[in-house]
Amino acid sequence: MASVPNSDELIFFVNGRKVVEKNADPEVNLLYYLRKVHILIFYCTKYSCGSGGCGACTVMVSRYNPKTKEIRHSPVTACLVPICSLHGAAVTTVEGVGSISTRIHPVQERLAKCHGTQCGFCSPGMVMSIYTLLRNHPEPTLEQITKAIGGNLCRCTGYRPIVESGKTFCEETTVCELKGSGKCCMDQEERSFINRQEKICTKLYNEDEFQPLDPSQEPIFPPELIRMAEDPNKRRLTFQGERTTWIAPVTLNDLLELKASFPEAPLIMGNTAVGPSIKFKGEFHPVFISPLGLPELYFVDYTDDGVTIGAGYSLAQLSDALHLTVLEQPKEKTKTYRALLKHLRTLAGAQIRNMATLGGHVVSRPNFSDLNPILAAGNATINLISKEGERQIPLNSLFLERSPEASLKSEEIVLSVYIPHSTQWHFVSGLRLAQRQENAFAIVNAGMSVKFEDGTDTIKDLQMFYGSVGPTVVSASQTCKRLLGRPWDDHMLSDACRWVLDEIYIPPAAEDGMVEYRRTLIVSLLFKFYLRVRRGLNKMDPQKFPDIPENSMSALEDFPIKTPQGIQMFQCVDPYQSPQDPVGHPVMHQSAIKHATGEAVFSDDMPPFAQELFLAVTTSTRAHAKIISIDASEALALPGVVDVITAEDIPGANNHQGEILYAQNEVICVGQIVCTVAADTYAHAREAAEKVKITYEDIEPRIITIEQALEHNSFLSTEKKVEQGNVEQAFKYVDQILEGEAHVEGQEHFYMETQTILAIPKQEDKEMVLYLGTQFPSHVQEFVAAALNVPRNRIACHIKRVGGGFGGKVTKPALLGAITAVAANKTGRPIRFILERGDDMLITAGRHPLLGKYKIGFMNNGVIKAADVEYYINGGCTPDESESYLSYKVDEFCYIVLKSDNAYHIPNFRCRGRPCKTNLPSNTAFRGYGFPEAAVVAEAYVTAVASRCDLSPEEVKEINMYKRISKTTYKQTFDPEPLRKCWKECLEKSSFSARKLAAEEFNKKNYWKKRGLAVIPMKFTVGFPVGYYSQAAALVHIYLDGSVLVTHGGCEMGQGLHTKIIQVASRELNIPQSYIHLSETSTVTVPNASFTAASMGTDINGKAVQNACQILMARLQPIIRKNPKGRWEDWITKAFTESISLSATGYFKGYQTHMDWEKEKGEPFAYYVYGAACSEVEVDCLTGAHKLLRTDIFVDAAFSINPAVDVGQIEGAFIQGMGLYTTEELKYSPEGVLYSRSPEDYKIPTVTEIPEEFYVTLVRSRNPIAIYSSKGLGETAMFLGSSVLFAIFDAVTAAREERGLTKIFNLKSPATPEFIRMTCVDQFTDMIPRDDPSTFTPWSVRVS
Ligand SMILES: Cc1cc2nc3c(=O)[nH]c(=O)nc-3n(C[C@H](O)[C@H](O)[C@H](O)COP(=O)(O)OP(=O)(O)OC[C@H]3O[C@@H](n4cnc5c(N)ncnc54)[C@H](O)[C@@H]3O)c2cc1C
Ligand code: FES
Ligand code: FES
Repeated sequence: MASVPNSDELIFFVNGRKVVEKNADPEVNLLYYLRKVHILIFYCTKYSCGSGGCGACTVMVSRYNPKTKEIRHSPVTACLVPICSLHGAAVTTVEGVGSISTRIHPVQERLAKCHGTQCGFCSPGMVMSIYTLLRNHPEPTLEQITKAIGGNLCRCTGYRPIVESGKTFCEETTVCELKGSGKCCMDQEERSFINRQEKICTKLYNEDEFQPLDPSQEPIFPPELIRMAEDPNKRRLTFQGERTTWIAPVTLNDLLELKASFPEAPLIMGNTAVGPSIKFKGEFHPVFISPLGLPELYFVDYTDDGVTIGAGYSLAQLSDALHLTVLEQPKEKTKTYRALLKHLRTLAGAQIRNMATLGGHVVSRPNFSDLNPILAAGNATINLISKEGERQIPLNSLFLERSPEASLKSEEIVLSVYIPHSTQWHFVSGLRLAQRQENAFAIVNAGMSVKFEDGTDTIKDLQMFYGSVGPTVVSASQTCKRLLGRPWDDHMLSDACRWVLDEIYIPPAAEDGMVEYRRTLIVSLLFKFYLRVRRGLNKMDPQKFPDIPENSMSALEDFPIKTPQGIQMFQCVDPYQSPQDPVGHPVMHQSAIKHATGEAVFSDDMPPFAQELFLAVTTSTRAHAKIISIDASEALALPGVVDVITAEDIPGANNHQGEILYAQNEVICVGQIVCTVAADTYAHAREAAEKVKITYEDIEPRIITIEQALEHNSFLSTEKKVEQGNVEQAFKYVDQILEGEAHVEGQEHFYMETQTILAIPKQEDKEMVLYLGTQFPSHVQEFVAAALNVPRNRIACHIKRVGGGFGGKVTKPALLGAITAVAANKTGRPIRFILERGDDMLITAGRHPLLGKYKIGFMNNGVIKAADVEYYINGGCTPDESESYLSYKVDEFCYIVLKSDNAYHIPNFRCRGRPCKTNLPSNTAFRGYGFPEAAVVAEAYVTAVASRCDLSPEEVKEINMYKRISKTTYKQTFDPEPLRKCWKECLEKSSFSARKLAAEEFNKKNYWKKRGLAVIPMKFTVGFPVGYYSQAAALVHIYLDGSVLVTHGGCEMGQGLHTKIIQVASRELNIPQSYIHLSETSTVTVPNASFTAASMGTDINGKAVQNACQILMARLQPIIRKNPKGRWEDWITKAFTESISLSATGYFKGYQTHMDWEKEKGEPFAYYVYGAACSEVEVDCLTGAHKLLRTDIFVDAAFSINPAVDVGQIEGAFIQGMGLYTTEELKYSPEGVLYSRSPEDYKIPTVTEIPEEFYVTLVRSRNPIAIYSSKGLGETAMFLGSSVLFAIFDAVTAAREERGLTKIFNLKSPATPEFIRMTCVDQFTDMIPRDDPSTFTPWSVRVS
C-alpha cells in the first residue's frame, strides 16, 4: 500500500503473528490483504464472490472485551472486512488452524476423511466456520453444526459429508449417525437384509482414526491485544488511504464530535451494507467513522417492560440476548422476541449475522429487512444521541419509509434499540418467504401485530409491515386503521385482504418481477397471521374463541430446519483382495488434506510473476448493436493502466470456429467482451475498464427467447431428426392423444473458483505458458495458438487443479485463455485474468434453456404407442457447444435426441430439434450434457399420460420401461436388467407404497400443506458417438528411488479423477499408493488430450494409465521372476542397471462408438448407467416453500473403484440437479441483460435444502468394457434431482385436485416458490389484481 503521511499504525494479529501496517488503506479489505499483500506464505483464504454471499473467504476474528474480560470468536467473510476495522483484533485463517507442515487440526482432518471436500475450493471456508463454532462450543449440538455452515456454499459435495464431519464433534452422535434421531440403520430389518445378501458396507471412513479435539491446544489470544484493549489511555486513530480516511474514536463524545464534523460519513459497523454499496453501486465516501468497540454501543439492558440492546451488538449477539430473555420471561411477554429469533435464524449466514449490527440494520433500512418489520410491529423505539443530546424516535412506518422528519439527523447516531415486551392480549409474528430457507433475501416478508381489548377479540391496535414489496419496508396503516374495533373473524380477514391489496400496490413492471406472486404473498402471509392469532386466542380462552379447523393447522408453521442425515451403501471389498490393493476402497481424495488446510494451490494462488499485470473486461451493454466507436482515452489516462486491448491487437484469428474473442464492428449479446484493460492492480484495471466509452447503434432484430427465435427462424444449425416405427400411423389407432409443452430454464455453473488464467509470455520463439483452470487444455492451446498465429507447440497449458468445472470449463477457458494470451503478447508482460463472479456469470453463460413440445398417443391402460417430440434450445449468440448439443458435428447426429427416450421404449418415436440462435451469451456444456433437460420432458409426458389414464405415474413408467434386452431407437442393443433392479429396489427400499399412502393421508388432513412423492428411473448414456473423442494417453515414469510419477490427459476438478488413477496405478504396479504422485495435467506431457467431461475421465485415462503400467510391469517381469521376494526398489535399481526403460506412455484407443446417420443406426455410446431415485417433499401451498423430506437413490455403479468418490459424485450431482429443477433461476431483462450475477440473486442449494434423510446405494452390476468393470458416474445423478421436481408436482397436483382444478398442466422448471404458489390456486391467488400483459413491459422474461 502506498505510503501516506499522518496515518496511525494499524495493529492486529494474523495467526498469532503481529501485523503492524503503517499505511493502512480504508478501501482495502481483509481478503485482498491476506491474498495480495503477502503477509502469509500461502493464499489459503479463497475469493469466490466478493459480496459476503458464499463463505469461501471465511476467517475467524477474535476480540477481547475489556468490560466483560471475555474473548469472542466470530466467523466473518474477509471480503467484507475493511482491514482498518481490525485494530486490536486477532485474525485466524485456515493456515493458522493447521497445516501439513505443522499439525493438521481435527476439523481439517475430519472434513478430509469424511470426504467433505471435492474440488476443495470451499473447504478453507468450511473449516473456518466449523472451527470457529468449536472455539465457542467445543461440544456443539447437531443444530449448531448446520447453523454454522449455512453461510458457506459448496457446489460439489451436496453438503452431507461436510455436515457429517462436523457431527463427529457433537456429543450426541454415535457411530451410526441415524442414532441421533432414535433410528439406526442397523436396526432396520430391510437394511440388514441387504447387508446379508450382498455384503454391503456403510462406512466410508473410520472414526477410530480421528485425532481427538483438545481445546486446550488452541492458540491463545495474544496478550498484547488484551493490554491494548485495557489501555486506559487509548486515543483516536486515523488511517489515511489513497482516497479515503478512516477515523476510529475511542469515546462516545469523540464519536459525536466526529459525526458533527463529518455528518455524511458512514459509521462502519459490520460493513455488510456499506461494503456492498461501495463495491456494486459505486458509492464513494471520503471519510469513514468506525466506533467499533465503543462500550456505550455494546450492552443489553433487561427491564420490566422490555429489552434495550446496544446498536453495536451484532445480529448474533442480538440473537443470544433475545434467547436469554425468552428463557427467562413468561411466554406472553416474548412474542416479539420469538418472532425476531425466527428470522434471525435464517437471515443471511452465520458470518453475516456475526458481522452485521443491530444499529447498522435499523439505519440502513433495506427494503428486504427481516427485522425492521417485526421491530416496527412490536413498537420498538430507537434511542439516538448527538452533541445536542439524546432523544427517542419510534421505529415506525414513517421511519421505515424514510420520511425525513421521522429519521435520524445526519449528526445523530443510534445508541440502542428498545424492544418492549408483548402483552397478554397481544400477538406478534414474523413471516417470510425466500427462494431458499436460509441465506436468501426475502421475496416478501412481514411483521404483524394485533392487540385486542382485554378478554375479547376486538381489535384495539393492528400493525402490518411488509418488506420486498417496494423501495422501502411499507406499512398497511390505512387498512389497519379501518379494521380497528372489528372482531378477528373471517369477515375482517376478507376486508383486510381486499384493502391491503389496494393499499400496497406492486406495479406490473416492478423491479425484481414476480409481481403476481408477491401480491399473492401479501394476502397469504396475512392469512397465516390471521390463523396464528385465532389459534392463540383459542389457547387463551377455548370456550370463547373457537379453534381453527383441523385441516388448517398446517398453515401455521414454516418448515423447521433439521440436521440432515443419511446412509451410504456400497459393495464391500472382496476379503481375498490384497490388503495393499486400494481398488474398491473408499480412499480419501488425493488432495483432501491440502484442501482442508488451504494448501492446495489453485491458479490464482500462484505468487505474482515479475512485472505481472491484471486484466479487467469491458463488456457490451447491448444485445445486438453496431459498434460506432470505442473511446479508451480516459481509461488509458488513469494511474497504473498499461494498455487497452481490442480485436485490432490479435495477431491471428479473432474468430476461431465461430467463437469471437473481442467484439468487432458489432456486438451480439450483453456481456460480449469488447475490450480489456491491463493495469498494475486489478482495482486500477477495473476502474479503467468502466471508463471505456462505447457508442452503439441498435440493430434489429434483438432475439432473446426461444419463442422469438422461432418467430424469426433464427437457428444455429439445421434440424436434426431421428425416427422409428410409423408415428403418424400409430396416432390413428391409439385411445388417446395428448399434447403439451415443457419449459426448462438454464442453469449457471457456479463453480466456486471463477474462471482463472495466468499467461506468461516467454522471451524466445513466441512461446506462451498458461496456468489455468480448464477441463480441456488442448482446446485452450488450440485457441491461443490460433489467436497468436503460432504453431501449437509454442503454447503450454498447465492445470494443477480446477475449483469446480461442471462443463463450464470445457470451452470457455479457450476463449478467455486466448484473450489473456493476446494481452500478454501485446504488453510483453505476464497477465493475471481472474473473472469476478458477476463477470463470470454474465460472460460464460451456462446450461441451455430448453423448450420441449410433445404429442403422445397412448392406450387407456397407459401403454404409450407413439411420441412426436420437438426440442429447441436457447443456444445464445455463437455455436459453442449448442450445435453439438443437438448434433455431433462430425456425425451430424441428434445428441439430445439420443438421450431423450430415457428409460422408456416407445415403438413409434420421432424426435426433432434445433438449437436457436439468440442474442444471449453463448450457452455451453453443463453436467449431464443435455440429458437433465431433455429427459425431464419424457418424464413430463409419461406423468401426464398417467394422469389421463387415472393411473399412478409409477405404473405408467413401469409399463413403458425397457424390460428385456432391447434396442434403442438407433438400434444399439442393451440389457436394462440393472435399470429394473434399481427401479425395483428404489420402490421397495424407500417403502414407496407405504409412504405414498401416508402422504395421501397427510394430504387429506391438511389443506395448506401437501406432500408429494416421485420415483424417477434413469438410463444415462456414457461416451460419444465419435469414437476418437474417447482416446486417452498417459505417461508414467519410475524414478530410481522407486517413486512413480503419473501423468495423464485428464483434469482434476474435484471429481476424484487423480485419486482413482492412483488407485489404478497402485494395483497395476502392485505398490502402495504412497509411492505414486500425480503433479499436474499439461499439454507438454500429454498432447491432444480429450476434454475431461462426459463421465469418462477415469474410464479413458484409467485405461491409458493401466496400459502404461502394464508395459512397465512387462519390462520388469524378468527381473521380478529372478528375485520374486525382492523389494520394488531393488527391482527398479536392477532394471536401471540392465538398461530397461523406466518410463512408458500408455494409450487407450477409445471406445469403438459410431453412428451412421443415414441408416439411423449405430453404437453411439460405450455403455449405459442406470438408476432410480425417490424423493418426498412437503409444500406450503400458501407461500410456495417446499421442504425435501427424504431421498433414496440407487445407481448402478457396476464395480466402484472408489465408493467414497462415487457416492460423492452422486450426492453432489443430485443436489446440483435439485438446484436446477427448484431454486436456481436465472433472470433476464427483455433486453437480454442477465440480472442474476451474484450469490445474492442466484440461489444454489445450501445445507438447508438437502434431504432431511438421504440414502444412497451403489448397485452392483457388470461392465466389462470399462476399467475394472466400473462405470463413470460423474454426471448421472444430476437428472435424478428431477425426482424432487416431480415430487413437487405430485404435491401441487394433490392441492389442485382438492381445489377441484385440472390435474395436467405443462411442466415448468425450476419449480420455484413462485411457481408452486401460483399453481396452488385458491381464494388468495383469485383475489389479486391481474394486469393486461399488453399494457406493460415486464421486468424479466423467461428465455426457454
Ligand atoms: C450476504 C448478505 C446477506 C444478507 N442477508 C440478509 C437477509 O437475509 N435479511 C436481512 O434482513 N438482511 C440481510 N442482509 C443485510 C444486513 O442485515 C445488513 O446489511 C446489516 O444489518 C447492516 O448492518 P452493518 O452493521 O453491517 O451496517 P454497516 O454496513 O456497517 O452500516 C450501514 C449503515 O448504517 C449506518 N449505521 C450503522 N450503525 C449506526 C449507528 N449506530 N448509528 C447511526 N448510523 C449507523 C452507517 O452509517 C451506514 O450508513 C444481508 C447482507 C449481506 C451482505
Ligand atoms: S468471497 Fe467472501 S463471501 Fe464469497
Ligand atoms: S468441494 Fe465445495 S465447492 Fe468444491
